[in-house]
Parts: sequence; structure tokens; C-alpha cells
Amino acid sequence: MHVIAIDDEFDAWRAAALDALAQKLTPESVDWRTSEVEPALFNDSAPSANGGDAPQLRVSRELASLLKDAAHFRDVRRWNFLYRVLWRWAQGDRSVASAADEDGARLYKMAKAVRRAQHDMIAYVRFRQRDASLGAPEYVAWYEPDHDVLAWGAAHFAARMGRSTWLIATPDGAAMFDGERLQLERRRALASEHATDVPDAAEALWMTYYRSIFNPARLNESALEQHMPVRFWKGLPEGALIPKLVSDARGGARRVAQAPSVGALGGKAVQVDAHEAQPERDAPTSLDTCRRCDLWRNATQAVHGAGPSDARIMLLGEQPGDQEDLKGEPFVGPAGQLLQDAMQRAGLPREHVYLTNAVKHFKWEPRGKRRLHKTPAQQEVEACSYWLEQELHDVGAKVIVTLGATALTALLGRRATLSAHVGRVVPFRDKLIVATYHPSYALRQNDEAAREKTVAAIVAALELASSLKP
Ligand code: URA
Repeated sequence: MHVIAIDDEFDAWRAAALDALAQKLTPESVDWRTSEVEPALFNDSAPSANGGDAPQLRVSRELASLLKDAAHFRDVRRWNFLYRVLWRWAQGDRSVASAADEDGARLYKMAKAVRRAQHDMIAYVRFRQRDASLGAPEYVAWYEPDHDVLAWGAAHFAARMGRSTWLIATPDGAAMFDGERLQLERRRALASEHATDVPDAAEALWMTYYRSIFNPARLNESALEQHMPVRFWKGLPEGALIPKLVSDARGGARRVAQAPSVGALGGKAVQVDAHEAQPERDAPTSLDTCRRCDLWRNATQAVHGAGPSDARIMLLGEQPGDQEDLKGEPFVGPAGQLLQDAMQRAGLPREHVYLTNAVKHFKWEPRGKRRLHKTPAQQEVEACSYWLEQELHDVGAKVIVTLGATALTALLGRRATLSAHVGRVVPFRDKLIVATYHPSYALRQNDEAAREKTVAAIVAALELASSLKP
């Protein structure tokens, strides 16, 4: 019997399996063992141990992908099994890649379970924000994946969470992102060291929200458990609420129809004039639970304006972008960086202005793995004008710099065109509007000279706004 010891990961197994095939070692003559992984960093894309002369074997794309996925299936015998599959293929037995074959069926099942675990990880990881005084990581999550999908899930979050620093701890190791680099650590101790019993202010908000949208009259327990399997509840903040909400529903709340808090929410959106649609200023509603249009459905959160409430100048953008949506702050992505540079050139410190958007939820459409900005519809701008009106009222700004066409029309109405207003000062109630381009317009310009011209126009508008004394 040949004992082959490998690190417990696909690349190590693949290299060793190709060696074993080259030596014509039958599956029955090989015992695959995984070495205890040292508490050391390992790289997700570790190079093959064999260097440049590794034996080669051509497998179909489908089989390669099945093997790669099934390699993350939690079963100590999986390397033996995968070698048997590879051996049969190498012997010319193509039926091994078919779901009609016993080994093939098992391979498909394993790969499917792993893909499911990947999906679950994206759906059920909940980050908690740590107290800023504790330093990095800013967010931590505890998660118990069904299979070995930590590296895959971590890469997903690294691509989605901007430069935030975070850690995902699991029973078998952890993934850490320092804003630039992703590190994976297989070390059991680390998981418990970072067990994420971390208080998070946003979590209380989320729990309140979850409680308020839970409608006992419409509870379908099997659908609930199908969409949010019970085994994940302990990692979810709302998991602690569900048993009580379900038992209340069983105990009569279902018959009494809606929970009072659900009844208090606005009903289905109907098309009405935006001004008629405004609830009273004191209406029990908040931006975080706003349902005035449908944009909340696909956004992570509403992005509030930011800055001093006695700011003299307000900068009004269109809507949060991808990074703003994740971070919950306006102008923190690439357009925000350009705006920041323009403000610096204009001698206008960010701390002196109030930054906000005409629309408070990110509107986007999927393009591959990316969320592409989509311009909000006039109706959505009008629905959101409720919140802008509150800001105009609460923030004493006397000068408003509108960035782009959406911001301008949000104040002056849809007939106002940017080309007719750019660089100009327009009276608006007891305030003055200075209209200019949106920073993303500059970012989209490939021609360096044209881009600089746009940036110069934004800088000039900011200088003009600073010089105005309404
Ligand atoms: N673009 C905007 O209009 N606002 C933001 O907050 C970010 C990008």
C-alpha cells in the first residue's frame, strides 16, 4: 500500500494524483492521508509541488469542474474517491463522468452539495461591526459552513466589501482581509479566539426591522425553513428572534392577522403625485425602513446624508454607488475620491460641507459579478424628494452644489437641463444653486484633456459656491 500524504487541498491532491497516475498506482493500492496543517498561512492558489515537470492528463472541462468542487466536500475519504474517478478517466473510462455511473453520480452529488454550501455562505454570513476603538478588523463573522468553502466565500466577500477590513472565523480556520490582501488561516484555535460575540449597533436596527416585517398572518413555516435552514439560525442575528415570532404566530397572532407594526407600514405603492404622497412630517417612518419606492429591495441599506447640520454648503449627488451602498456613507467610492480631490483643489474642506444624494438607495443591475449603476427614474427621484426636503429643512445650507442632471432636476423639476445651467448660479427658495457635472461623468471620460476640463469645471463650481454669500 502506498501512503500519499498531502495538504488538505485540491492543488496538492491534483499534483500528487498526477504523479501517482504516472506511476500507474491503482486506486486500491493508494491510501491518501492529509497531513496535519500547521498553523501557518496558506495561499489559496499555492503552486503545484511538482514544479514545471508535473505529469499532465487531459480531462473534460465538466469533469475538471466537478473534481474541483467535489474536492471541497467534507469527507476524509474524498481524496481516495477522487483518485478513483481520475484513474478510471485516465484508463479511458469516460462513463465515470456521467451521472448514470455510480461514481459519477456520487461525484455530481458531492459537487452539488459544495455549490449549495457556497451559496449558503453568501446568503448566511452576517458580519458584525466591532467597536472602532478595537482597530482592525472592522467586521467579524462566525460561520459554520457545511463544506470546505471558506476560501471561496472569502474571495467573494473580498470582492464585494471594498476596502473594509474583516474576518470570517469558522470551526476550521479563518479568512482575514486587511483592505487589500486576503489571508486564509487553517487553525482551529483561531476560530474560537475570534468567536464573534460582538455587540453591533446596526444589529439592533436590523432586529427591529426584521421584527417589523415579520408578518404572522403570512407565515409559512416550511418555506421559512427552506429559505433559511435552521442550522444557520445561530449565526444570524435574527435567528434568535425567529422561534419566538413563530411561536407567537402559532399561538394566535396568525389569526389576528398582521402584527401591529406591519399594519402600521405603508401598503402597496400606487402612482400618485409625489407631493400628495408625502406623509406628515411626524409620520412614524424613517429612511432606514423607507418603502416609498421599490429601490430598497435590492439595496443593502439607505444611505443618509453626512456632514454638519449647520453646513453653509450642501453637495447634492444622484444616488449612492456600489461602495456607498455597502458602507452606508455617501461619496466614499471612486466618484467620491474625485470629488474629494476637487474639493481640495477648491480649498473646500469636506468637514465643512453636507454631502447627500437625491435618491438614497442604490439602483443597479447585475453585469456578471458586478452591480452596475442604473440611473433612477423620475418617479423614484420624486418619491425620495420627501427625504431631501427634510434635509433642506434640517440643514441650514444656503448654497447647494448640484452634481449632475439628476440632482439638478430633483430640485428644479424635470425640465431643467444640465447644459443650460452648468456653471451658473440659480436662485432656489432662500438658497442658491450652483450646477455642475457629476464626478462620475469625469471618471467615464477616457480622453485625459476632456476629463481634466470636467474636473476643472467641478472645481470652479465649488470655488464659486464658497465665494457666494446669500
Ligand atoms: N455618486 C453619487 O451621486 N453619490 C454618491 O454617494 C456616490 C456616487
